[in-house]
Amino acid sequence: HGTSKINAEGHLEIGGVDVADLAKEYGTPLYIVDEALVRQRANEYVSAFEASGLKFQVAYASKAFSVMAMCAIAEQEGLSLDVVSDGELYTALQAGFPAGRIHFHGNNKTPDEINMALDANIGCFVVDNFVELHMLNALAADKGKKVKILFRITPGVEAHTHEYISTGQQDSKFGFDLGNGAAKQAIEEALKLSNIEILGVHSHIGSQIFEVDGFRMAVDKVAAFAVQIREELGHTFQVINLGGGFGIRYVEGDTPLPVAQYVAAITDAIISNFSAANFPLPEIWVEPGRSIVGDAGTTLYTVGTMKEIPGVRKYIAVDGGMMDNPRPALYQSRYEAILANRANEANAETVTIAGKACESGDKLIIDLELPKAETGDLLAVFCTGAYNYAMASNYNRFRRPAVVFVKDGQSDLVVQRESLENIVGNDVIPARLRKSL
Ligand code: LLP
Repeated sequence: HGTSKINAEGHLEIGGVDVADLAKEYGTPLYIVDEALVRQRANEYVSAFEASGLKFQVAYASKAFSVMAMCAIAEQEGLSLDVVSDGELYTALQAGFPAGRIHFHGNNKTPDEINMALDANIGCFVVDNFVELHMLNALAADKGKKVKILFRITPGVEAHTHEYISTGQQDSKFGFDLGNGAAKQAIEEALKLSNIEILGVHSHIGSQIFEVDGFRMAVDKVAAFAVQIREELGHTFQVINLGGGFGIRYVEGDTPLPVAQYVAAITDAIISNFSAANFPLPEIWVEPGRSIVGDAGTTLYTVGTMKEIPGVRKYIAVDGGMMDNPRPALYQSRYEAILANRANEANAETVTIAGKACESGDKLIIDLELPKAETGDLLAVFCTGAYNYAMASNYNRFRRPAVVFVKDGQSDLVVQRESLENIVGNDVIPARLRKSL
């Protein structure tokens, strides 16, 4: 998929670059991002919304992969940006991302984070709870500013990836409940606050969703709420944000829809619900993360040691693991992989790819079909663009890998590999302990 192919030497090539050359130049483990595919995915969202005729913003959920070069691409593709921390906000601002297109999420924003975002004049806060609402109003008042907000509401639609549960009251740490009146009360309170301007509401039903039903159900609930608020409180929402969650194909059997179909389901549901209620058509915002960067990422590892337990299992260990991709250990997520330097060879054995963390659960792929792997071979694991670098850790004091963007035969380093100096960079030995060394 994307620009990936097998070249004449039988090597995996991405963005016109042989990954064996990338391994030589940058070392492994290495995150490789197919820049053209990221841009294509971004464009699929923008084009689909343009086709709807509605006003829109596509905010890339930077939690999926937040680095400055990615913010630059999002900016060039006309996306907005969803950030959830001072770190993601700082990354965006340092990359020169226009503050007016930044939306700030989070269920426990600190006063420092709110002040930082107020000083940067970001476009919108997604307010999660009553404490935040009043804190934001007070901090904005201190600075003599009026801030635009969306309320995050819990619509009572929950996606368990393949099915939806519609509940009256949902147990979630996020947002204001629609069912118990909290959402209406929040709007009522906010209408009295002079440093707050309510743009509308936000709903996010889950992640790695394949079907459109859940989004439709969420639109139905949000639209009914918009009508209720206009009737009962006289306030008209201008913006409806439906969050992210659009699925991607990790392995055979995953059946995501094309981006355009998710967007059409949402925009159709918005148009029919709001037209039926004689309500001015709102602006639609979405927040895709995984579906922008997920399938554009590949992680390249070098095969190291092996262990065969006759009749049981053969382990092939690579030079990374749960520290660069915690998803298999955390969520039992599945991935596809190939031997990138022998991509034309027939599969010959079933193996388990082990990471090198000191933890038995550190298995990246269980029961993977591969040609007979040898020490020094390169293993490419696909669809690692989202929630991999973003969730990487220094567990066992391993160094986080480098990230390169590839495009048109060229590779560019966008994150350096961490150094051993970085590993101890924040450590301090107090003087009283130093004496004994
Ligand atoms: N908007 C909100 C409010 C969210 O909470 C999320 C994801 C997104 C947008 C983006 O969702 P996406 O389009 O990427 O599905 N670490 C997990 C995924 C956590 C998603 C959290 N929220 C994983 O690795 O699967």
